[in-house]
Amino acid sequence: INDIPVIAIDGPSASGKGTVAQRVAGKLGFHYLDSGALYRLVALSAMRSDADLADEHVLSDIAARLDVVFEDAEIWLESENVTDAIRAEACSNAASRIATYPRVRVALLERQRAFRQFPGLVADGRDMGSVVFPDAALKIFLTASAETRAQRRYKQLMEKGIDANISTLLQDLRERDARDSGRSVAPLQQGEGTSLLDTTSLDIGQAVDCILRQYAEI
Ligand code: CDP
Ligand code: CDP
Repeated sequence: INDIPVIAIDGPSASGKGTVAQRVAGKLGFHYLDSGALYRLVALSAMRSDADLADEHVLSDIAARLDVVFEDAEIWLESENVTDAIRAEACSNAASRIATYPRVRVALLERQRAFRQFPGLVADGRDMGSVVFPDAALKIFLTASAETRAQRRYKQLMEKGIDANISTLLQDLRERDARDSGRSVAPLQQGEGTSLLDTTSLDIGQAVDCILRQYAEI
């Protein structure tokens, strides 16, 4: 299985990981893993069953039992389409809190690795290059300034007809980044052998081209 190439794209919230990773996967004909969606699904499932978000055992149980289907751009939880529900801000924050629990992370590990299928995988998240696919062929740390990221998220929400406030978004994003980078297990950081791609002044197409170029060179 280790002959199957992985491109790992990690980075902070709204840096463009999902969009860029999906396009790179599309160009190469590779599979795509949105690992953040799994943490969001655990969060949604926990909130819906009124689980205690501080109970690591209950949460890791939920993570181990997740009944989820990824189908093109849609995500189904127990046969319900939750594609939009998991993007809600409450879910983002809960996801980032439960993602600090080692047992939850372990419970999701094999599920993520199962996405590694022929002819290849592009995976995005926080620990794709460091923990889940340490032997990835290419590791990218995708980032952009916090202001740029808040603006991108704002525009994205407005286009979906979801009301948002840019300064609240910026504050939420900073809080979540601090939690994701500061935690003791699988923190978000630019590890060794990972190339930095700052997209503050790059559009999606430029970021995609840059990754495809780097992949072609290895
Ligand atoms: O997955 P992640 O949270 O890192 O970000 P995303 O959802 O892929 O991207 C957030 C928003 O930024 C989307 O609406 C993208 O279209 C946009 N974006 C952009 O305007 N320029 C980029 N270079 C990358 C993303
Ligand atoms: O799209 P955005 O970058 O805002 O978030 P996401 O990638 O969907 O991830 C949601 C939350 O899940 C993050 O804030 C992390 O706390 C957690 N996460 C993680 O810990 N490890 C991953 N590989 C992916 C997400």
